Amino acid sequence: MSDRGAFTPPQHLPAWSALTAHARRLADRPLSTLFANDPDRASRFTRIFENPTELDQTALIVDFSKQQFDDEILADLIGLARDARLSEGIHGLFHGEAVNFTEKRAASHMSMRGGCPPPPGSETDTRAMRTFAFDLREGLLTGSTGKTIHHLINLGIGGSDLGPRLAVEALADPRGNIVGGIELARVDFVANVDPREFDTVLAHADAASTLFVISSKSFNTPETLANAEAARQWLRAQLGEDIDIGEHFAAVSNALEAAVAFGVRPDRVFPLPDWVGGRYSVWSSIGLPLLVAIGGMFDDFLVGGRIIDDHFRLTPFEQNLPVWLGLIGLWNSSFLGIQSVAALPYAHGLRSFPGWLQQLEMESNGKHVLRDGSRTEADTAPIIWGAAGTIGQHAFHQLLYQGTRKVALDFIVPVGEDGDLRQRILVDNALAQAAALMAGRDLDAARATLTRRNLPAAEIEQLAPHLVCEGNQPSTTIMLPRLDPFHLGALLALYEHKVFVQAWIWGINPFDQYGVEHGKEIARALASGKVGEQDDSTAQLARLAEEFRQRMR
Ligand code: F6P
Repeated sequence: MSDRGAFTPPQHLPAWSALTAHARRLADRPLSTLFANDPDRASRFTRIFENPTELDQTALIVDFSKQQFDDEILADLIGLARDARLSEGIHGLFHGEAVNFTEKRAASHMSMRGGCPPPPGSETDTRAMRTFAFDLREGLLTGSTGKTIHHLINLGIGGSDLGPRLAVEALADPRGNIVGGIELARVDFVANVDPREFDTVLAHADAASTLFVISSKSFNTPETLANAEAARQWLRAQLGEDIDIGEHFAAVSNALEAAVAFGVRPDRVFPLPDWVGGRYSVWSSIGLPLLVAIGGMFDDFLVGGRIIDDHFRLTPFEQNLPVWLGLIGLWNSSFLGIQSVAALPYAHGLRSFPGWLQQLEMESNGKHVLRDGSRTEADTAPIIWGAAGTIGQHAFHQLLYQGTRKVALDFIVPVGEDGDLRQRILVDNALAQAAALMAGRDLDAARATLTRRNLPAAEIEQLAPHLVCEGNQPSTTIMLPRLDPFHLGALLALYEHKVFVQAWIWGINPFDQYGVEHGKEIARALASGKVGEQDDSTAQLARLAEEFRQRMR
């Protein structure tokens, strides 16, 4: 989405009308009939990404065959990508062009993992951050009392929390960070301005051995600054008013002066380039907590991202995983009218993946204004939600089976080692859910199920409709050999580029977030007591909240 070249809204591209016709043709066709008529469907619509590095044999398997499309649609989707000159977009993204066209800058987060050069004249040096992280990890830093720092608490929100939190949950050893008998630093996160999260994390923290990292690119995010202030007060309350507060803080931020004014030592303020957006920043200094948690394996995480960069940049659309993911998602959203996508990672370590994906997709592509300032005619980003399997099976899968809404599903399935039966149960469940949600159960099958229970005929007739599952929920299954730094890096980069593909074709800027600013302005107004400026409902609620506060004083 660089500023070069004329922009054509996607509906005016030749392939768009062909796809609209396909949607009418195929929308109601049961998914299982697509398989029945096509014995090679499963293998033809599964992309196996061979890993070119030494780190593993096979990196990712992505099975698209349970999505509602066929060869003709695929050809026209790829035609749409060509009509939209997606190759130009990819070239611009990797060559430092101003793809973030509203803020007039590049989006070169891939350079933090070696996937592209940094924009000219803006090389970054993460050596100081890395040295600091390794010293912290290995217990070489002391706090104001001389005690070793053993605990890092990250204070940040949005992109300054979700990426590192997800990666630490996925990759840090859950039994504690002990390597070679040495206990390494523990890592925790506080994002919410609700004091309960702060209190929960700090309940077992020892102030003398705790260091807070204020992660805020802008150093201007009210929630993070409020938590940083609470941390400063907590340290003083625990260790005394006259402690050297700088021994217990570091910051990841571009606002050096503001961080230093807060009390962070200048040599502990680690910047990240302007052209790394918050939700794309886990690869940068924002990844400091991950570096502390997993040490040198952080580099495998970067390699995982980088091989997807190379794949995305160099692979023809017909074989290109992010292009397929982007096109199928766009097909579901803009042509089939599917408004909702459930991210279903079958891994406890990926429990925060849906939250990370929400920010990535919804903050990036939850927009309606196109590059030429017009309003989009197509639906853009869907609503992303989800939870780790099998937890969600016992909560919301009922609606997926028998509700009234079409939901597209992304199953993320790390296969894992063969040693524990529970791991196998997990994987079997993921595959079973994808299969059952596609196939459904018709009335005859429902009757047969009840017949096997030896129920009286009248009861079978009465009950059978309640057992019917309409099926046809489309899904993509992404299978990884295991959840390790390399594969997590590859997975996250895959989705990052998927978002770019969609944004480029829709004609929106995935790298700004002006909408979010709007709510922040009203919160600021309320905080400064400007209650009367709001609508009557909001003004009334603000007054009532104040009354509650007064009564509780
Ligand atoms: O929610 C808006 C946002 O700007 C996100 O894009 C960003 O990840 C988050 O706030 C945190 O911003 P910062 O790192 O500047 O505190």
